[in-house]
Amino acid sequence: MQKVLLNNGIEMPQIGFGVYQIDDLQVCEEAVLHAIQTGYRLIDTAAVYQNEEAVGRAIKRSGVPREELFITTKLWIQDATSEGAKRAFYASLEKLGLDYVDLYLIHQPYNDIYGAWRAMEELYAEGKIRAIGVSNFMSGRVLDFLLNNKVTPAVNQVKVHPFHQQKELKEVAASHNIQLEAWAPLAEGKEGIFSNSILQKVAEVHGKTVAQVALRWNLQNGQIVIPKSTHKERIEENFNLFDFELSAEEMAQIGELDKAAPNPQENPEFVERLNSIKIHD
Ligand SMILES: NC(=O)c1ccc[n+]([C@@H]2O[C@H](COP(=O)([O-])OP(=O)(O)OC[C@H]3O[C@@H](n4cnc5c(N)ncnc54)[C@H](OP(=O)(O)O)[C@@H]3O)[C@@H](O)[C@H]2O)c1
Repeated sequence: MQKVLLNNGIEMPQIGFGVYQIDDLQVCEEAVLHAIQTGYRLIDTAAVYQNEEAVGRAIKRSGVPREELFITTKLWIQDATSEGAKRAFYASLEKLGLDYVDLYLIHQPYNDIYGAWRAMEELYAEGKIRAIGVSNFMSGRVLDFLLNNKVTPAVNQVKVHPFHQQKELKEVAASHNIQLEAWAPLAEGKEGIFSNSILQKVAEVHGKTVAQVALRWNLQNGQIVIPKSTHKERIEENFNLFDFELSAEEMAQIGELDKAAPNPQENPEFVERLNSIKIHD
């Protein structure tokens, strides 16, 4: 298992399994169990995905010792306040059936994230969380955040794939030792990723699939990847990334695929829509 070293000295697997939009809890449990049996040790869920119980059941069924797993969950906007964060964290912990999580992330850069961070810093100091981080924080936000807090985020989980490469954010993260973690590393199966001719050509050269090439590109760029699938053969395919290497020329060709599209974090409709999602009364 290839690992990366976070800025607080703990190791995190560079490949994990994501469970966004696996709403059927039975399907989620079976997918996570199959992922763990395949060899994945990092599982990425979130309170807003409403499937933490299913993840917890799969962890238990797997029989893999807790310390060998790396479990991430996330604090939703509604609870991102100084009073709400601890309550939400303990609710997640209970649903997961765990007594600590490895990584707890502020899911979106909205609400009282500074108050929430101080509560997370306390949970971290108490050993309830091994590393704390953020998600969907763009360059300006992440800089302000680390300049005005005690603990620097260990991880920033953002969308990164061959068409959305986050080149500026990558530099900011690198200069402050924040590990980038790529969500939607397969572009959510959209944007014609699987029929892209450059990715197809590179895949053919290596006898691999486009999905494997896209994931490998992210790994060689230093990002953590957390692809999601509910299909057993794809769960296995997405984990099978360590028997080939993209050349510098192939990395450069894929580097040219970036569309440099804006992130939606400043879009008023996006902010309103996310804030309207409530996960409890
Ligand atoms: N922090 C955030 O705001 C945020 C946002 C989005 C996602 N995430 C995290 O990142 C994880 C991954 O992102 P994502 O689920 O949005 O997108 P993704 O992993 O880029 O893509 C998942 C899609 O690709 C398909 N797929 C997976 N492997 C494939 C393969 N080998 N060949 C062909 N199709 C394949 C899946 O279909 P099937 O399932 O039908 O196989 C699914 O439709 C999430 O599960 C979640 O944990 C975080």
